[in-house]
Amino acid sequence: MIGIIGAMQEEIDLLLEHLDDAVELKRSGIRYLAGSLHGKQVVICKSGVGKVNAAVCTQVLIDRFNASKVIFTGVAGALDPSLEIGDIVISTSSMQHDMDVTPLGYARGVIPYQAESEWPAGQALVQLAVAAGEKVFPGHCKTGKVLSGDQFIADRAVVRQLHEELNGTCTEMEGAAVAQVCAMNEVPYVVIRSMSDKADGSADVNFAEFTVTAANRSFAIVNEMVQGL
Ligand code: ADE
Repeated sequence: MIGIIGAMQEEIDLLLEHLDDAVELKRSGIRYLAGSLHGKQVVICKSGVGKVNAAVCTQVLIDRFNASKVIFTGVAGALDPSLEIGDIVISTSSMQHDMDVTPLGYARGVIPYQAESEWPAGQALVQLAVAAGEKVFPGHCKTGKVLSGDQFIADRAVVRQLHEELNGTCTEMEGAAVAQVCAMNEVPYVVIRSMSDKADGSADVNFAEFTVTAANRSFAIVNEMVQGL
């Protein structure tokens, strides 16, 4: 079973349009639609925004639906200055940029007392997503580190810091939570995000204008890659 998560309705709309034989189930306040996408068994859900929603949603996908891989699809703010709005980032790893125990001497993003604070994405999923990206939007896909936090970033100085200090390629609000829960359950994941904005002073306006287009571009890659799973 393949779990596919979006945080917002715009991020799962096209998936639901393509889902056959859907059966609905509600758990922990989240609606899950299980069915078939290009003949593959999938469960599609809208987690809601933020790391707690994404974590609960991912654990339910694994426990209740036996998801053996999890794909996150949606939009993000660009951190890498070479990215344009609409470009795609495929995660090689994810980390929580708002995990901050620096007063105790830990580097930013590091979770104390545990081995891992940055979770590598499933290699096979990354390869499939990259191949799908090159086919669907050639020259517009990049791999890199996804930084997640319970914050909408709209500040150029913060963008520079997240890019330079934490080596982030894009920023969003769920990916690292999905990654952490997947790692805890030994389930591979990948995050696919199209840039709705550049996380700068225009991010609010750009997000409003480009979210649907960007979400649909991310869908196009998921739709292509699912056929190879
Ligand atoms: N999702 C899309 N744009 C974002 C931003 N600028 N910050 C956090 N999450 C986002």
